[in-house]
Amino acid sequence: MRDLSALLAQMTIEEKVGQLMLLSVNFFGTDTELTGPAQEWGLSPEELSRVGGCLGGKDADTVRKIQEKHLASDRNKIPLMFMNDVIHGFRTIYPINLGLSCSFDPELVGECTRMSAKEAAAGGVHLSFAPMIDLARDARWGRVMESSGEDKILASALGAAQVKAYQGEDLTSSEHIAACVKHFAAYGAGESGRDYNTVDMSERTLREFYLPAYKACIDAGVKMLMTAFNSLNGLPATVNPLLMKQILREEWGYDGVVVSDWGAIYELTVHGVAGDLRDAARLAFDNGCHIDMCSKAYYQNLSRLVREGVIPESDLDDAVMKILTLKDELGLFENPYHGADVEKGYLSPEHRAIARRAATESAVLLKNDGTLPFSKDVRRVAIVGPFADDHGIIGVWASKGKKEESVTVAEGVRALLPNAEIVTARGCGNTHTDTDESGFAEAIELARGADAVIICVGEHAHYGGEANSRTSLDLPGVQAEFVKAITAVNGNSAVLLFNTRPLSLVNIYDASPAILDMFFPGTEGGNAAAELLFGEANPSGKLSMSFPKSVGQCPIYYNRMLSGRPKVSLPDEEYQAFSNGYIDCGSRPLFFFGEGLSYTSFEYKSMELDSHELDASGKIRVSVTVKNTGDRAGKEVVQLYIRDIVSSTIRPVQELFDFCKISLEAGEEKTVVFEITEPRLRFWDAQCRHISEPGEFSLFVGYADHPIISDSFRLVEGK
Ligand code: NOJ
Repeated sequence: MRDLSALLAQMTIEEKVGQLMLLSVNFFGTDTELTGPAQEWGLSPEELSRVGGCLGGKDADTVRKIQEKHLASDRNKIPLMFMNDVIHGFRTIYPINLGLSCSFDPELVGECTRMSAKEAAAGGVHLSFAPMIDLARDARWGRVMESSGEDKILASALGAAQVKAYQGEDLTSSEHIAACVKHFAAYGAGESGRDYNTVDMSERTLREFYLPAYKACIDAGVKMLMTAFNSLNGLPATVNPLLMKQILREEWGYDGVVVSDWGAIYELTVHGVAGDLRDAARLAFDNGCHIDMCSKAYYQNLSRLVREGVIPESDLDDAVMKILTLKDELGLFENPYHGADVEKGYLSPEHRAIARRAATESAVLLKNDGTLPFSKDVRRVAIVGPFADDHGIIGVWASKGKKEESVTVAEGVRALLPNAEIVTARGCGNTHTDTDESGFAEAIELARGADAVIICVGEHAHYGGEANSRTSLDLPGVQAEFVKAITAVNGNSAVLLFNTRPLSLVNIYDASPAILDMFFPGTEGGNAAAELLFGEANPSGKLSMSFPKSVGQCPIYYNRMLSGRPKVSLPDEEYQAFSNGYIDCGSRPLFFFGEGLSYTSFEYKSMELDSHELDASGKIRVSVTVKNTGDRAGKEVVQLYIRDIVSSTIRPVQELFDFCKISLEAGEEKTVVFEITEPRLRFWDAQCRHISEPGEFSLFVGYADHPIISDSFRLVEGK
C-alpha cells in the first residue's frame, strides 16, 4: 500500500491531468521513438510520461516493455493501467455473450469469466471493459451480440457473476483483473436499432427495465463504469446529470472510477451540446467523468480550467485519487506488471473444456421433428453451407483468440466420428451481397448421398458488433434457398445456425426438420456442435432474446405492456380488426424469450405456494417440482414469471421473477424453491416512485407466453 495522499500532494496539475488520460497502445512506443498517434497529437515525451492509462496491449511482452519504459520516464513512478476489451474470452474464446446468456447459468458464466481474467492478466491486462449489460430489445442493433438479451433479471444475474469472477477476492492476485460495467446508460435502446443513436424514453422505463443490471454490477463491487455514446432524453449520457449525478452518485452511492467511451467527450461537440473541446471537458468533468478515453479534451483543457478556477483543484484531486486507489488495489505500485506472463495458461485443456461446456450449454434447439440427435452409426455425413468448415465461428471481438485455434464444425464431427466419411461443401456465401447459387449443385449432390446432413448457415461474423446494425433479419444472401434446396433432397437434415443476433427464420422454418442455434460459439464450437448433433450432449439453452417473425416487429420483447386492445381469442396469424396487431404478420415472435427444446422431456408436476398471502415483512416459498420423463439426462431452466394484476401504473403482461437451471437424470425429479418478498414486488410507478401496492399477483412456470402451471397470491400491504 502506498501513501497515496503524499504522492498526490506533490504532483503538478499537469501530472494529475495525465492520470485522467487513456490513450491507445499505439501511442506508447517501446523504444525512444513515439508512434503515430502520439506524433499526430503533438505529445512530447514528457507529456506522454504523465499519461495514466493505456488501451490495448499486444501481449505480455509488449506490455512489460511499455510499462518498463514508462516507469523509467515518469517522475512519480505511477504505473500505467492497461485496459482492454475482453469480451468473450481472451485467448480461449467462449460463445458471444448473447449466446452465453442463453445458458441461463451464472455459475457457468462465472467460470468463463474467471478463465478470461486469468488469461487476460497473463496477457498484461489490468482491467477489462466488461461486462456489457445494456438491455437489448431490438435485434437490428449490432451490439446485441455483446449483451445478455432483453431481460433485466437475467442480465443482472449474469453481469454480477462476471464482475465477481473478474475481480475475485483480491485484485492484487495475478489471476484477477478489474471489471468495468458499460455503457451507462440505455445504450441498447437507440432509435431504429441504429448504433450510437438517440434514446428517448420515460424515466420510469429507464429505471424499471434499463438500469437494474448496471446497479447489480455496482452492488457486486465493480471498480469502473463506462458512459454510453448515446444521448438520453436530449443530453449525451456522458453529461446527463440525471444519470451521472442523481442516479449513479446520489441514489446508488457509486464512488468508483468513471471512464468515457472512446472519444465520447470530444463527441459532445458533435452532439452540439459543447461549443468546443474546452466546454466539452468542463461538462464531462463536472458530471463526474474521470477518465477521457482517447480524446484530446482533458489533455488540452483540464489544466487550464483548473488554473482559471473553473474546476476546483480539489475536484481534480478527488478524481486522481480514485484512479490511484484502483492502481493500488491492483497492486501495481508493488508489481506494475501484475499477472503479465507470456502465454501462461492459454488454451490449456482445462480452459478448452470450459469453452466447450459453455458452447454446448449456450446452444438453443429451436425446432426438432425428431431428426436430432442423429445416430452415431452414420457412414457418410455431409456438412454443407458457409460455416461448414469455417474457423470464423470463433466470433468477432475475440480479443487475442486466433481463428486457427478454433475447431470448425467439420473438424468437430470428424473427431467425434472417426470412422464415418465426412464430406463438406460451402454451397454459398453468408453476406447480403452473396447471391451466387453456383455452389448449390455440389452441396446438393453431397447431401443426396449422405446418411445425415448438417446445414451450416447464418450471418457473417462481422454482421454483429459496433456500428453493425441491420434492416433485415433474414438469413443473408441466398441461404434460405440453400436450406430449402438441401432439405428437399435429404430429409435427415438439421440446420446449424451461426448468428450474432436473433434472426427471422420464417423462410426456413417449415423446410427445416431441425434447427440448432449455436450463435458464435468460440474456440470449441465445432466440438460442441458435434456432441449436440449426435446426442453426446443434450441441448439446454433457452433464448435470452425473442426471435421475431419479421424485422417489422422490432423492438419486440416478452415483458411488453398490455394495450387496451390486445388481440384476444384468435390465432396469432389471424387479423383482428381494431386490435393491437399487424395486418400481415402475427404480433408474437417466432421463438419466445425462455424457449428452447431438449432431447428429453420434462414434466412440471406441481407448483406449491406455502402461503397465498404476503405481508411486508414475510415471504412466500414457491416450490416447483420437475421430472425428467424422457430416457436421457438433461438440464432444464425452471423459470418463474409474475404479473401484477391491477396496479396504479400499467405493468408488463409477464415478468421473469426468478430462474434456476437444474440437471436431471432420466426419470429423476427435483424441487426448486423460489422466494417472494415484498421488496421484490416494487416497481417504478408513473410518478417515478419505487413502490409496491397491495393486491393480486399471478404466477406461472413455463416460458414467455407459455404458462405450464399457474397460481396466484395476494400482497396484503404495500410500501
Ligand atoms: C468503444 C466501445 O463502445 C466500447 O465498448 C469499448 O470498450 C471501447 N470502444 C474501447 O475499445
